[in-house]
Amino acid sequence: MAKRNKIALIGAGNIGGELANLAVSKQLGDVVLFDIPAKADFAKGKALDLSQNSAVLGYDATISGTSDWADVAGSDVLIITAGVPRKPGQSRDDLVGINLPIIQNVAENAKKYCPDAFTIVISNPLDVMVWAFREVTGFAANKVAGMAGVLDSARLQYFLAAEAGVSVKDVRAMVLGGHGDDMVPARGYCTINGVPVSQVIASDKLDAIEKRTRGGGGEIVKLMGTSAYYAPASAAIAMAEAYLLDQKRLLPAAAHLTGQYGYNDLYLGVPVVIGGGGIEKIVEIGLSDAEKDMLAKSAESVRGVVDVAKKLWSK
Ligand code: APR
Repeated sequence: MAKRNKIALIGAGNIGGELANLAVSKQLGDVVLFDIPAKADFAKGKALDLSQNSAVLGYDATISGTSDWADVAGSDVLIITAGVPRKPGQSRDDLVGINLPIIQNVAENAKKYCPDAFTIVISNPLDVMVWAFREVTGFAANKVAGMAGVLDSARLQYFLAAEAGVSVKDVRAMVLGGHGDDMVPARGYCTINGVPVSQVIASDKLDAIEKRTRGGGGEIVKLMGTSAYYAPASAAIAMAEAYLLDQKRLLPAAAHLTGQYGYNDLYLGVPVVIGGGGIEKIVEIGLSDAEKDMLAKSAESVRGVVDVAKKLWSK
């Protein structure tokens, strides 16, 4: 018998709700919105709202809210937003102490209830949370990805399109490295329908755009008092869709490196191919010396926070 995919969203907050909305609107499968017991009714309420929305928008999906991991069992895709978002003035790294035990708890349950899922982690600090999730679960590295590169690249694409006065649809961009203030916008791979952006936008303007991209999440936190959720959700759904529909998309994502780009046992944003096998390939592209230096700095920052996580674990 044919059956729908099952997509579990761990964390039914701002991003979780938008993930659910996109997943069912795109008919990717049935959705389980999971949250802690104190938020179980909230998750159930969101699920009911989205179920009723199916009558208006016309999609077929079962959407449920729960705080019972048994309801998550057997999921094909897990998307994790469990944890707290940033408040104004906080860096993503400031969240490690609060979000690490949450990820650990989620990982222990994921290992027990959905060992076959393709997992996408969104919780911050992203590169460390996705590393911690894989450490605890021991899942195959191709089945555990972190979402940051698609979002950071989308922010860059939007700013480039606005500056050049062209449709954002024609702008491609690639942001690599950790999901932090020293992320790496790879200028050589940013094009407007194949035309290098450096031929269309002056270099001082590009510098300013790249700076704004690096602080793109913080700019929204400052405006809203909490972190972004529409673009983060869309970015993760693009990754889930690539897996579920075996699209073999080449996207920047946090992947477990085992020597690629010169880094080992580290999750870092790099170009990957996502298809039915999960992260099917890590693609090594040529980088300029300046980009290599930026990547090294970014990797060093991620490694520093991984060390903080290891110390917290040893306590
Ligand atoms: N299991 C499941 N859900 C949890 C757990 C847990 N152990 N601990 C916390 N949560 C839930 C919270 O109850 C909350 O409903 O995670 C949800 C997070 O939702 P929001 O506070 O609205 O945060 P959101 O904006 O969705 O961001 C979530 O993603 O981008 C990152 O920095 C962001 O780390 C943050 C995460």
